[in-house]
Amino acid sequence: AAAFGGAALALGGRSAWEAAAAPSPTAGSAAPAAPPDASGRATVEFRGARQPGVTTPPQAFGAFVAFDLVEGVDRDALVRLMRIWTDDVERLMAGEPGLADTEPELATVPASLTVTVGYGPGLFTAAGLEDRRPTWLRPLPAFGVDRLEDRWNGGDLVLQVCADDDTTVSHALRLLTKEARTFTTVRWVQRGFRGTPGARPPGTTMRNLMGQVDGTRNPDPGIDPDLVWHPDDGAGWLAGGTSMVVRRIAMDLDTWDELDRSGREQAVGRRLDTGAPLTGTHEHDEPDLAAKDANGLDVIGPFAHIRRARTDDAGQRFLRRAYNYDAPPSPGALSDSGLVFVTFQADVDRQFVPIQQRLDELDLLNEWTTPVGSAVFAVPPGARPGEYLGQVLLD
Ligand code: HEM
Repeated sequence: AAAFGGAALALGGRSAWEAAAAPSPTAGSAAPAAPPDASGRATVEFRGARQPGVTTPPQAFGAFVAFDLVEGVDRDALVRLMRIWTDDVERLMAGEPGLADTEPELATVPASLTVTVGYGPGLFTAAGLEDRRPTWLRPLPAFGVDRLEDRWNGGDLVLQVCADDDTTVSHALRLLTKEARTFTTVRWVQRGFRGTPGARPPGTTMRNLMGQVDGTRNPDPGIDPDLVWHPDDGAGWLAGGTSMVVRRIAMDLDTWDELDRSGREQAVGRRLDTGAPLTGTHEHDEPDLAAKDANGLDVIGPFAHIRRARTDDAGQRFLRRAYNYDAPPSPGALSDSGLVFVTFQADVDRQFVPIQQRLDELDLLNEWTTPVGSAVFAVPPGARPGEYLGQVLLD
């Protein structure tokens, strides 16, 4: 933990994994024809042992679309879909139109686009590959805090599409969804945002819609790759892959508004202005969970989110890569806001579930937050040159 905090400080608040994974501008971006906005030309490498969009520094905008496979889609059909997606994801991420792109002009601003593909439990059934389904690939256990709505749950297949431009996200999402339409139906779409690029100093941690600095303490995959990536032990198709949990968590901002500032800070255990722990002064200061106030009470309360969300077991950490959502409210309501809470971890059961269980037992934040959707996916390794996505599993 200290090493992570130190690394983040050394890099001016930006964690080492973010700095290391920062996208490089496309070669030739200095050419006269390049648009003046350099961030729009930035690209992320698609090919490699691991898929992009996991340890890539979170882009400003994200869209998540889950699909159900239509009746009759088998392993051969999935291979065809993966080949089509692989080709066009590679093109789009390079800032080029898809093969049958009906809006090619919309493809010219890659803006660090990444597309990440994940497989739900149903894909393994459809492909006749049940024996290769990871044991953790199933719906999460039911939690007391859950008020899940089926319209946000599950899915046989998922695409995570992220970029620093929302038009780019929409275009990629539409093209890839269109290409899948004979194989799938759309189950749910969730969109989110973190903050416009350039509106805040680089490396600033995002704020969620409760106003909190959110994402301060995340493991550094550069230091602890095994927390995120399935070990490359040569055994099994998932080597170099990961798992993705997508929880839609609604915030009750109306009742949150009624809480005073000190109550809000105690709910998390951190200050609202700087994101510093209640026992520190800077965002990346290590919280002192043993500190007592003048009355002998814990400064960071027993119910505080950050106390509950950590354990002494360093193996129970995972990568949070959440996006804010702000949807049209239902009739009579003022808002429908929350987090598309996305996490990546090598093993859902070993890392995510115990922490979610702890938060289910006690976390003051539960008073204002409610999980309304839940899905788990296996993210296959990346497509190396000449490969299609998921080839190690589907071939
Ligand atoms: C930390 C907000 C749900 C796991 C934090 C922090 C905030 C926050 C403000 C402190 C800053 C930081 O380190 O990022 C929220 C909100 C949630 C939510 C608003 C729901 C809408 C969850 C859930 C989990 C979780 C469902 C896990 C299942 C964590 C972890 C930390 C954290 C592991 C870091 C704790 C540490 O090591 O200090 N969250 N969170 N959070 N949260 Fe959440």
